[in-house]
Amino acid sequence: MSQHLYLLCCFLSFSLLFISSISQAVPAAYVFGDSLVDVGNNNYLLLSLAKANFPHNGVDFPGSKPTGRFSNGKNAADFLAMKLGIPTSPPYLSLVAAVNKREAFLKGVSFASGGAGILDETSVGFLEGTVTGILNATGLEILDGTADELLRRSITLHQQIEYFSIVQRELVRQQGTKAAQTHLSKSLFAIVIGSNDILGYFKSGTTGPPKSNPQQFVDSLILTLKVQLKKIYDLGARKFFVAGITAVGCCPSQRNQNKTGGCNEEANHWSGRLNEGVKSILQGMQSELLDLKYSYSDTYGILLQLIQKPSNYGFVEVKSACCGLGKNNAEVPCIPISKYCSNRRDHIFWDLYHPTEAVSSKFVDTIFDGPTQYVFPVNVKQLVTM
Ligand SMILES: *[C@@H]1O[C@H](CO)[C@@H](O)[C@H](O)[C@H]1NC(C)=O
Ligand SMILES: *[C@@H]1O[C@H](CO)[C@@H](O)[C@H](O)[C@H]1NC(C)=O
Repeated sequence: MSQHLYLLCCFLSFSLLFISSISQAVPAAYVFGDSLVDVGNNNYLLLSLAKANFPHNGVDFPGSKPTGRFSNGKNAADFLAMKLGIPTSPPYLSLVAAVNKREAFLKGVSFASGGAGILDETSVGFLEGTVTGILNATGLEILDGTADELLRRSITLHQQIEYFSIVQRELVRQQGTKAAQTHLSKSLFAIVIGSNDILGYFKSGTTGPPKSNPQQFVDSLILTLKVQLKKIYDLGARKFFVAGITAVGCCPSQRNQNKTGGCNEEANHWSGRLNEGVKSILQGMQSELLDLKYSYSDTYGILLQLIQKPSNYGFVEVKSACCGLGKNNAEVPCIPISKYCSNRRDHIFWDLYHPTEAVSSKFVDTIFDGPTQYVFPVNVKQLVTM
């Protein structure tokens, strides 16, 4: 008996050694993006309504607690960190509150913020209609007319990079230039952004200035993203994971705009065009900047595969959100008065925009170790050991 225990302990310590050797390959992850990877930054934005730190979000998170993740449980940032053998990078805004927590900058930081887009304007407007709906549903009418102001409170990608430059300067101050550079060059930079820009553009009934045509709009996204990725590189990043955007036209909020309940094909078309642009930016950067390495995921293809062949992956419900109210549970977001399903593992969508924990887990399995059909030129596992 005791011998068995001894063997078990040996085995466990071998496993731990193994895990720590992977984590040395990637000392830290720095995460930029939107609600797909927000792990709680928006909790610190007092006036933001792009929040998820209330039930029923987090119902499957350890301790069943809402954390600010737009998910029933963990999100892609958590699963990616688990694969890398490192803790989930904490929200930047949780670290700046106390000066001594700046030590933690070395262990990875998440700048991701629900509602953020490639363009600063995206973070301003996209939830407008939803917010009126939330306010009506909760009986909070006080905010009529101030909703616009509240919605400015996502951390735009531009601002996320400003925050990263603060982190970079602090690392240089703590470690010296050379050690900080080495650390950042080994770290993984994950960027998950762009869905909100496309969703905002195709949102029905948007008021505001007249829109450019979709081609011009997508071109402006691509140009802006290119500049932003270059800034991250200039601050010391060398290993990039960039997620293409999903088929946003298939999320429940977009299906509700189609009379037959199909996907919004126009939104999907322009999602694809944005993705083509992002791929060519990355190829271009790699040929110009020889020490840059990247992994790009065809998130669109990964999601479509799940939607088209759900039973192959253990899913059943591809249209309706699990948590919400109204048609497809997509007329009201996941807020405390919404209902939510018991069979979360069966659903592709947790709420009107976001995937379930089960989908995020599947997604990360694919980007980490999947074939070049879905993640290229290398997968994340290859990227971090390069
Ligand atoms: C919210 O309530 C206002 C007035 O009570 C109404 O005009 C508006 O259409 C409602 N909005 C939504 C999204 O339900
Ligand atoms: C609505 O869905 C159908 C499939 O059910 C699709 O053929 C059609 O193009 C969609 N319409 C729009 C406007 O996206």
